[in-house]
Amino acid sequence: MNERIIYLDNNATTPLHPEVIKELTNSFNIYGNPSSMHFFGREAISKVEWARKQVALLINAEENEIIFTAGGSESNNMVLKQFLLTSASSKRNKIITSVIEHPSVLETVRELGNEGMETVFIGVDGKGRINIDELEKAVDNKTALVSIMLANNEIGTIQNLKKISSIAHRNGALMHSDAVQALGKIKVDVKQLEIDFLSFSGHKFYGPKGVGGLYIKKGLKIASFIHGGHQEKGLRAGTVNGPGIAGVGKAAEMALLEFEVENRKIEGMRDRLETGLLKSIPDIEINGDSDHRLPGTLNISFPGAEGESILLYLDLAGVAVSTGSACATGSLEPSHVLIATGVDIENAHGSIRFSFGRFNVEEDVDYVLSILPDIIEKIRKMSTFSPGNKLGDA
Ligand SMILES: Cc1ncc(COP(=O)(O)O)c(C=O)c1O
Repeated sequence: MNERIIYLDNNATTPLHPEVIKELTNSFNIYGNPSSMHFFGREAISKVEWARKQVALLINAEENEIIFTAGGSESNNMVLKQFLLTSASSKRNKIITSVIEHPSVLETVRELGNEGMETVFIGVDGKGRINIDELEKAVDNKTALVSIMLANNEIGTIQNLKKISSIAHRNGALMHSDAVQALGKIKVDVKQLEIDFLSFSGHKFYGPKGVGGLYIKKGLKIASFIHGGHQEKGLRAGTVNGPGIAGVGKAAEMALLEFEVENRKIEGMRDRLETGLLKSIPDIEINGDSDHRLPGTLNISFPGAEGESILLYLDLAGVAVSTGSACATGSLEPSHVLIATGVDIENAHGSIRFSFGRFNVEEDVDYVLSILPDIIEKIRKMSTFSPGNKLGDA
């Protein structure tokens, strides 16, 4: 194992915040069932309700507007599949999303399409921003829901969600946003953004994995997603994951306290890496929207070098990064997000996502800058993609 280990894959998941580790450790000793009426149950439910308040504060919601789930994918499924239940009896039978969503939205919407709902996938421009004109044309009085992510996991592009929500609402449709990548990284205010449903996940902002939630605006009703007991307002039956939820609560509390300062530092490191790589490696392309981008995300195409090779060389040198989306690991398909923004197949295959988090330090940037130019030069020399070095050439 390399002496030096640098984690630059914080969009895939984040390490736990030390305060979250303390919270989890304490909460694992609170073993009562939060539904029990005795002291042990009351002790457990008070932790869960404290956590609900912390998450609500982070997104400017009210406590009773938050439902805990087993993460972002479940929250996305929970909200989207609701519309299948009502589509037969409602004249609103259309769901609109974008082509750059996370698979937990894309695949779910495709499934709704297979079940007979009308589905529309809105395109994006070269920076990954939703085509507003296309959206305006698609949303109509048959639209039940518009679901657009707040920030993209691969390129970090942040959408103008307030504008998108206003288009949905003007036409009487509801607005959902997968904000999994946004919480703890940028300010998220459900009232200001005029959102009806919002998904989040603990492990993207220094909380535990397998716990997340859904914001459901007061007054909106959704049907049960998991039938059984009355937990989580009867929407998601099953004994709640008290310790995990307490961990998310602590992560939310810490995010609210620290995210502005932390993210300024994170953005500074990201920008220094970007500037340094642009200077030291010829012909590279920055993907995404430099003006509206998550502070820690840097997605770069290295033409003439394959992403997998770069990742492996960096891994050998102790640096963890990602090609495309970590959730799609195992597939050699080029990233659907990069292709949607017009990146060609070769550049999509040659892309690397660096994602910074609160535990990175300036020396991490120095180290990557000191090793990456040589790695790229070596791979480009060997690569079949390299200009002048095509397959079939002697
Ligand atoms: C934008 C986005 N949505 C949803 C998810 C899924 O969240 P979870 O891992 O909690 O299911 C991810 C995880 O990569 C994500 O990046």
